[in-house]
Amino acid sequence: MTPHPRRQHMSTRRNPQPCQTHDLGRFEILTRDGAARIGRLHTNHGPLNTPMLLPVVNPNIMTIEPREMWEEYGVEGLITNSYIIWKHHKLKEEALRNGVHNLLDFPGIIVTDSGTFQSYVYGDVEVGVSEIIEFQKNIGVDIGTMLDVFGRPDMSLDELEYAVEETARRASESLEVAGSNLLLNGPIQGGINDDLRARSGYLMSSIKGQYHNFTIHPIGGIVPLMEKQMYRELFQILLASKSNIPPNRPIHLFGCGHPLLFPLSIALGVDIFDSAAYVLFARDDRFFTPTGTVKLQDIREWPISSRALFGISPEEVKKMDKKDRTMILSRHNLEITQTELARCREAIRNGKIWELAEERSHSSPQLRAAFLWVLDQLSFPDEGPIGESIMDIVASTNPIRKGGESMSHDIETRPHILHLQALIATRWKTPGSWWDGSKTNVKNIIIIEKTAPPWRINSLNSVITHLIETPNSIPLIITPLGIIPYSLEDLSPWCHLDGSNDMWKIHYDDEEIIEFLSDYGLENTPFIRIKPDPKLIVKSKLNQKVRDWLDRCSIVDKLSVLCSINPNDGCKLTHSMSCRKSTTDRIVNVYSENSHILSPRLNDGGISLTLEGAKKLCDARFPISFDENTIDSEFLGLPKVCINDDAIPFVGVGRNVMHGYILGADNHLMPGQPCLIVDSKGNFVAHGVPITTSREMKFFKKGIAVRVRGGVLKNSS
Ligand code: GUN
Repeated sequence: MTPHPRRQHMSTRRNPQPCQTHDLGRFEILTRDGAARIGRLHTNHGPLNTPMLLPVVNPNIMTIEPREMWEEYGVEGLITNSYIIWKHHKLKEEALRNGVHNLLDFPGIIVTDSGTFQSYVYGDVEVGVSEIIEFQKNIGVDIGTMLDVFGRPDMSLDELEYAVEETARRASESLEVAGSNLLLNGPIQGGINDDLRARSGYLMSSIKGQYHNFTIHPIGGIVPLMEKQMYRELFQILLASKSNIPPNRPIHLFGCGHPLLFPLSIALGVDIFDSAAYVLFARDDRFFTPTGTVKLQDIREWPISSRALFGISPEEVKKMDKKDRTMILSRHNLEITQTELARCREAIRNGKIWELAEERSHSSPQLRAAFLWVLDQLSFPDEGPIGESIMDIVASTNPIRKGGESMSHDIETRPHILHLQALIATRWKTPGSWWDGSKTNVKNIIIIEKTAPPWRINSLNSVITHLIETPNSIPLIITPLGIIPYSLEDLSPWCHLDGSNDMWKIHYDDEEIIEFLSDYGLENTPFIRIKPDPKLIVKSKLNQKVRDWLDRCSIVDKLSVLCSINPNDGCKLTHSMSCRKSTTDRIVNVYSENSHILSPRLNDGGISLTLEGAKKLCDARFPISFDENTIDSEFLGLPKVCINDDAIPFVGVGRNVMHGYILGADNHLMPGQPCLIVDSKGNFVAHGVPITTSREMKFFKKGIAVRVRGGVLKNSS
C-alpha cells in the first residue's frame, strides 16, 4: 500500500539545525496583526515558531511519546520539569550522562521548569537557586527556568511583594550560572495587583546577564485563576505585566493551554503557551473543541473531527480500556490544540485575529465577560500599566486591511477601527479651497444616507450636482460605523462591511447627526441629507472640474490621515495632478508633473508610494509646513526610519531594512503604512512599509524592520 503522503513527510522530519551562535536567544517578528505576532525564536535546537504551545511532558508518564509529537504533530518544542528529573535518581543519572534530548528522545527544543510549580502544589522544594540552573545547564536544556517564588492570587500584598522582590533577587545569580548556552525564562509574579505585575515586568526585564538577559518572560502564578475560569483577572495580569517588558522578549502564559483562550491571549500579545491539559482532560474522559471541552459520556456523535477520532465511534471509545482511551483522547486534544494555533497564525496573517477572539468570546460566559472588560479598556484606556499596554496595541495595529470586515455588535471596538477613527478625528481637515478656486469657510454639509457602497458609483453624480450649486460644501457619508468623509469612500473597512443590507437603512435623527459632526468640529455647520440617485446624469460642463477636485481631495486626505502629511503639503504635491482610472472609476495611478507619484491600493484603499513620490515627500520641509502660518502638530510628515551607513548600499538598492541597522525612527510610524528611509543626515535612501513600530525598532536585533519598495541607488548586479 502507498503510504499517506503527509505521514510519509512527517515521519521523515529532519533533525533541526542549531541557530548561528550570534542569533542564540534572538526573537524576530515575521508578520503581525497589532500585538499579535508570528515570531521566531532562535535556539540551539532550531527555531521556535510562535505563537505555539509547548506540550508538557512528564518524564515518568509519557502518554504521547515526544518522538511522536515531533514526527506526527509538528511539535517544535516541549516543556518538561527539571526538578522531577533531578529528584529521580535514574532519570537524573541518564539525563546527566546522555542529555535531556536523549532521555526524552526528542530532537526539537526542550524547555524546562524549575520546581516552583511543585512548591506551589506540595510546599517547599529541596533544590537551591543555583543548583537547579546548573542542573538544567548540565543536561543540555535549551531554555531553562529560574526558581521563582509563586505568587498565589489569594496572598496578601506583603506576600506578593515578597514573591516579586525575591524572584528578582534570584535573577542575576541564575543568569550567571546559566552561562552562554542555556537560555532562561524570567517569570513575572505579582498576583492580581497591576502595579506589582508592572514592577515585576520592569525588574525582571532590566536585569542584565553577563552572557544573556532573560530570553522569555513567562507570566507566572496564573494557574489558580484558570482553574476557576477567572479570565478577566488573567487578561488584566497579562496587560499589566506586559507594560514594562521589552517587545523583543516573547511572552509565555505559564500553564495555559486551553484552545479557547488562544485567540484573545494571542491578540493581546502572548507568544507561547504550555500545558498538560491535552492529557489531563483526556484522563478525565474529556476532549477539546476550539470552543470548549466536551465530556465523552455526554455524546453519541463526535461534534468535531480529527485524525485521532476518524473511523471510530464515541461508543467504541467509551468501551476502550482506560489507557487506550486516554491515549486516543490525548492525541485528539493535541491535534485540536495544534489546529487552533494554526488557525490563530492564519488569522494574524489575514488581519483577523481580533475577529477570531471576538467570535470565540461567545463560547463561554467567563470568556465573554473578560472580552467585554478588554473592550472597555480599549474604549477608555486608564492611566496605569493596563492603559499603556492597551494604547500600544492600538498604535501598533495597521488601521486598514484588505478583505471584508464582518459586522458584529463589537465591531467598533476592534483595535484597527479605533485606530483609524482616531486618525481621522485628529488628522482629517476640511478642504482649504473649493473646486471653483474659492477659499471661503465651509457653508454646507452634504450627508449621504441610507446608501451602501460603492459610493463613487451610486452617489458621485448627486454629490457633483450639489457641489456645482454650493461649491463650499463637504460631502460626508453615514455608515454603520459612524460618519466618514466622502474623500475616504474606498477605504476599508467602510467600503467592505459584510452584513445584512438592513445595516445601511438605519435612520439617524438630526441630534444624532450633529453628534457625529461634532467629531470633526462641524456641529454648527448646516447640513442637508441626500439619498443619492444612481441614475442621475450631470450635464453641466463643470462636471469634470468638480470630479478632479474630488479626486484631489481623496489623495490629499489619504496622505494626511494615513501618512501624517499636512494637507497644505498634500495640496502642493497634487497641485497639477492627473490620474489614470479603472473601469470602475477608481483612481489607479496619480501623476504629478508627469511623474507617477503614488497609487491608491485597490484592496484596502491605502496609498502605495512610488520612488518618485517618496522622494518628493522627503524633499518637503517636514515637519514645517509649506504654508508657514500652519505648523500643525498632527502632521509630522511621512514617518522616517534612519539607518546607519553600513546598511545604505543594501537598502539603497531595494533590500529590506533589518533590525540592528537602525539609528532611530519617528514615533508616529505605523506598521503597514508607508515610511521613508533616510541616512543619518536626513538624505533620502529608500521607502517602504514597516513591520515593526519605532519602539520595537529600538529593541529588536533580528528580522525585517521595513519591507523596502524602492531605493535611490542603482543595483549594479
Ligand atoms: N508553572 C505554572 N505557573 C508557574 C509559575 O508561576 N512559575 C513557574 N516556574 N512555573 C509555573
